[in-house]
Amino acid sequence: MKIVITQKLPFDIEKYLQGFVLDYNKTDNELTKKEIIEKIRDADGIITMLSDKIDKEVIDAALKLKVIANYAVGYNNIDINYAKERGIVVCNTPDVLTETTAELAVALLLSVTRRIVEGHKFVENKKFQGWKPELLLGTDLYKKTVGIYGFGKIGQTIGRILKGFDVKLIYNTRNRNHQAELLTGAEYVTFDSLISESDIVIIAAPLNESTKYRFTIKEFKQMKSSAILINIGRGPIVKEDDLYTALKESIISGAGLDVFEHEPKIFEGLFELNNIVMLPHIGSASTETRKAMAKLCCDSVLDVLINKKKPYNSIN
Ligand code: DGY
Repeated sequence: MKIVITQKLPFDIEKYLQGFVLDYNKTDNELTKKEIIEKIRDADGIITMLSDKIDKEVIDAALKLKVIANYAVGYNNIDINYAKERGIVVCNTPDVLTETTAELAVALLLSVTRRIVEGHKFVENKKFQGWKPELLLGTDLYKKTVGIYGFGKIGQTIGRILKGFDVKLIYNTRNRNHQAELLTGAEYVTFDSLISESDIVIIAAPLNESTKYRFTIKEFKQMKSSAILINIGRGPIVKEDDLYTALKESIISGAGLDVFEHEPKIFEGLFELNNIVMLPHIGSASTETRKAMAKLCCDSVLDVLINKKKPYNSIN
């Protein structure tokens, strides 16, 4: 049986998947769609990256594919309904990256509120001439209202961590979750209340038809002018040129982005701003987690192809 792995993973995949024919791209260069189509033709399984678009055309090229294991918790890059129609199991990597991604969200948030990146550049550029009462003043988290948009496992974990900062937590998500409220102390509010009441809005939602472009200039105008937006979900939830206008014209005060509308391209204007911190989509990027994600992808493939059972993490 043949398994395609579209990029190099931090895991001894060849040892773990002994006995399979591996078509393993051992580089960190993305495969083109044409290359994926060629490779998938006679594959039984494929481990894909969130940057691989697995649409109808790609799925149609696969003649005997049984399983797609996506090396990410988000799966907006895959046409899961069409895969289901074709009897292909699609899996993602939930749970193993929850804490890691939540930690990154909090790190990004603190980088914005306490101007960590600006501070580092200041010192690096040898501008530090001594302590000053007004040097690089930021803003506290303590007693602020933090609104979390998308209250799945990652959103809830961000809430749980932020409780330690004594913030007021509110959230909005597709389905109200009473159990999560008990665990985190967060209060469910409408989307309009979330954006107008929060000092900090954190996007931890998946990308789908209802979340795409949920944040445009209209929503930024409903936010506090002192508000900070953090996005660790998916780029297209935020209209990037509108975010630029909102930051440039002080409609909101700051932003931290780990994801972008057209990754890896970034709206040019954002580079001019100093009230933004941008990261190259590293939410789940810890050694432990990336290894665990790789193992989970392999286990998903093994479950479908060898153990003939539905993996616990199958989406469709
Ligand atoms: C995911 O797994 O979907 C995250 O975006 C990775 O950081």
